[in-house]
Amino acid sequence: MKKKATTEVPINDVIAQRWSPRAFDPNYIIEDDSIKSLFEAARWAPSCYGDQPWQFILFNKKDATSWTRALNCLSIGNQNWAMDASILIVVCANKNFNHNNEPNQWAHYDTGAAGENICLQATSMDLSAHQMGGFDKEKIRNLSNIPINFDILACMVVGKKLDESKLSKIQKDKEGQVRSRKKLKDIYFINEWK
Ligand SMILES: Cc1cc2nc3c(=O)[nH]c(=O)nc-3n(C[C@H](O)[C@H](O)[C@H](O)COP(=O)(O)O)c2cc1C
Repeated sequence: MKKKATTEVPINDVIAQRWSPRAFDPNYIIEDDSIKSLFEAARWAPSCYGDQPWQFILFNKKDATSWTRALNCLSIGNQNWAMDASILIVVCANKNFNHNNEPNQWAHYDTGAAGENICLQATSMDLSAHQMGGFDKEKIRNLSNIPINFDILACMVVGKKLDESKLSKIQKDKEGQVRSRKKLKDIYFINEWK
């Protein structure tokens, strides 16, 4: 199913084509090289001082035991559909700058940009990413031994969208929901806050 953004003015096609599906092909395995391309895209995100505060943890469905452990950290609602994706990525940000160990107040901003690069790279490779805030942070921290100086920002799954012909009635209704956004004129001011 394609759900290209309905834009008020033209935008880059990959941005317009990206959306967050919940129906994935449960049998799809992502090639290792494609996974590397996702992280390569993240690697080239901009960051304050070029500090690259992001750190990702990859879980691959090919490793069934680890995959199940990671899935169990998600909310039940997310587990129900995320289980059909191919990989799960935990997105972490270093709270301190690498170069001087001082607090990095831009770490989240930078890591979000890197996360979006992954989503857009996935779209460009005919894959789909779906980010999630619905997960148990402490469970993931313990599972993957994530150090305390890293914040755990999000989880995301990446996989192949399930072919439209294979969607159940419930899936079709959910996936078919219209994507909406605030109006363009409402998201920026000129010169001063209005
Ligand atoms: C940080 C973050 C957390 C999110 N958490 C969830 C989540 O827990 N479960 C879910 O189904 N979708 C989640 N989403 C997906 C959003 O609902 C989705 O991006 C939004 O509705 C816009 O839809 P689109 O990505 O298809 O344009 C999350 C997205 C982001 C960026």
